[in-house]
Amino acid sequence: MSSIQNGSKTIQQLFDLTDTVSLVTGACGHLGKALAQGLAEAGSSVVVSSREEDKAVQFAQQLPRPVQQTHLGIQLDQLDETSRQAGVQRVQAEYGRIDTLINNGHFPLSADLNSVTEEEFKVQLSNASAYFFLAKAICDLAVAQQRQASIIMLGSMYGSVGSYPDAYEGVSPASPVAYHTLKGGILQMTRHLAVYWASKGVRVNSLSPGPFPAPSAPRGMVQRLEKKSPMKRMGKPDELKGAVVFLASQASSYMTGQNLVIDGGWTAW
Ligand SMILES: NC(=O)c1ccc[n+]([C@@H]2O[C@H](COP(=O)([O-])OP(=O)(O)OC[C@H]3O[C@@H](n4cnc5c(N)ncnc54)[C@H](OP(=O)(O)O)[C@@H]3O)[C@@H](O)[C@H]2O)c1
Repeated sequence: MSSIQNGSKTIQQLFDLTDTVSLVTGACGHLGKALAQGLAEAGSSVVVSSREEDKAVQFAQQLPRPVQQTHLGIQLDQLDETSRQAGVQRVQAEYGRIDTLINNGHFPLSADLNSVTEEEFKVQLSNASAYFFLAKAICDLAVAQQRQASIIMLGSMYGSVGSYPDAYEGVSPASPVAYHTLKGGILQMTRHLAVYWASKGVRVNSLSPGPFPAPSAPRGMVQRLEKKSPMKRMGKPDELKGAVVFLASQASSYMTGQNLVIDGGWTAW
């Protein structure tokens, strides 16, 4: 069925990403793959970025193309200004537009509050400035072209609540203090940018996963997290697909400055 009366859209139209271009940073990672897949399945042309171009190109080739759209793999190191600018320019040259940015890439840190150095702390926080400068580049392009855009920042449950020390004691380093600082800052940056950019037609929201450990995560830690989770299990990457398509699409057209939490109930305790 096509449009109903008064120009209102069907639910299928609202979630449809056909003819859009989405840039996903860190798209070859544990969650990035599912985010990229969800956007591609909804019809978007997905730009897969990685610090390694070959890896990005290879993964882009594997993405589904339900509307015969074209995906692209590019090199992008978010901590390097030249690489960020070159990445955005490449997408602009290939597609002439960027409708959605998924700021998902994350330069990791394993050092916790007992061992982190000042330099490591600063580098960890520079993931936030990278998210900002990428978001600004996409906002500027959208404004210059008089288009709308949706920016999605990957936050974390650990941007909203403190750590759970018992999960880590004796089996893994504690969750890094700089990571909590970073993710809390990203949620606040989301609100700040959203209010400045709302009138320009650029929406900014955060998507905050709870525990979605990669298969390589220490088993002892995962078992403790499972025990504490209200759902008694960890998230599976596919469980973020619906949320990212919602935030990228017209289904969330009146939503900005918000944090969508997908955490199995962790932050509801
Ligand atoms: N997994 C969870 O439980 C969880 C929970 C809450 C929030 N999150 C957030 O979700 C996002 C994805 O996490 P994940 O679990 O999928 O981690 P991941 O598997 O480590 O993926 C992150 C990706 O970031 C990329 N990256 C690293 N340094 C980068 C840099 N300098 N510039 C650009 N990209 C860089 C890496 O890709 P390349 O090596 O290909 O460049 C990596 O694949 C992160 O922002 C994370 O904080 C994850």
